[in-house]
Amino acid sequence: MESPLTGRHFLSITDFTAEEIELVLETARRVKRHPSDYTESMRRRVLAMIFQKPSLRTRVSFETGMAQMGGHAIYLAPSDISLGTREIPEDVAKVLSRMADVIMARVFGHHLVEELAEYATVPVINGLSDYEHPCQILADLQTIIERKGQLDGLRACYIGDGNNVAHSLMVGAARMGMHMTVITPPGYAPKAEVTEKAQQIGQASGARITATTDLEATEGADVLYTDVWASMGQEDEAKARKRIFQAYRIDAETMERADDDAVILHCLPAHYGDEIDYTTSRLPNSAIFDQAENRLHAQKALLLHLLGET
Ligand code: CP
Ligand code: NVA
Repeated sequence: MESPLTGRHFLSITDFTAEEIELVLETARRVKRHPSDYTESMRRRVLAMIFQKPSLRTRVSFETGMAQMGGHAIYLAPSDISLGTREIPEDVAKVLSRMADVIMARVFGHHLVEELAEYATVPVINGLSDYEHPCQILADLQTIIERKGQLDGLRACYIGDGNNVAHSLMVGAARMGMHMTVITPPGYAPKAEVTEKAQQIGQASGARITATTDLEATEGADVLYTDVWASMGQEDEAKARKRIFQAYRIDAETMERADDDAVILHCLPAHYGDEIDYTTSRLPNSAIFDQAENRLHAQKALLLHLLGET
């Protein structure tokens, strides 16, 4: 049976229903357990990867994923395309659609992945924009299930900046029925429209989604998540943010308040000593490297669904 996701774009985690996310996660579990069943699945398929920003995990997981499934990935560095300056997104999307089977783009403005998707005739995957990081959240959900056996009804807390990762986590958690509290310093909350959307989605799944500045809100959390205080493109603000965000971190004190078995997550790269200290990141509760590895499995599953090869 053809996947309901065949030919679709993946710009936001909200592009998929809860059932569709379950489908991808189920495939990700299978791919992780039996990678040798998929060595020919992407035969003669090509993934074009557009990068406006640096990457370790996203680039290597997509490139390795395609290679392991018999396909090929082309890395297009920021200076190769100069998306939006050397060439308009419409033309990039139309040209790549004539040559590649799927496009992945890591961009600054979210409008760029939207424009690529508007004009591409092949699936477009958001590999991180300033607004969302949906591929990361697929791997995060897979990791939480591995550690906790479920998502529904868990209490997750994100501490730090109300950024792209926080946005995708909120709506992803809402879809899957996982309660989520995003804790940020005043003025750094997630965008109000994202919080509202997540709360609306949560009404259907039973997930309570909250944005607060109160650090005590980590009390009894099952999942603790953090990300850098200054994202790519915000380097100029890094010094000021270091001061403002000082208390908004995962450390021994946060662990005290959370559940004893709380899972620690970080999408990486980490700035140790800032949003998380090195010792805490290495506790047995930490799943940060499983999370990184799951980028590979979750994205192989995503590619299989979008290209109708499940
Ligand atoms: N987590 C993540 O997307 O890592 P990279 O920026 O290294 O791809
Ligand atoms: N919020 C971070 C995530 C990096 C994977 C950034 O956008 O730089």
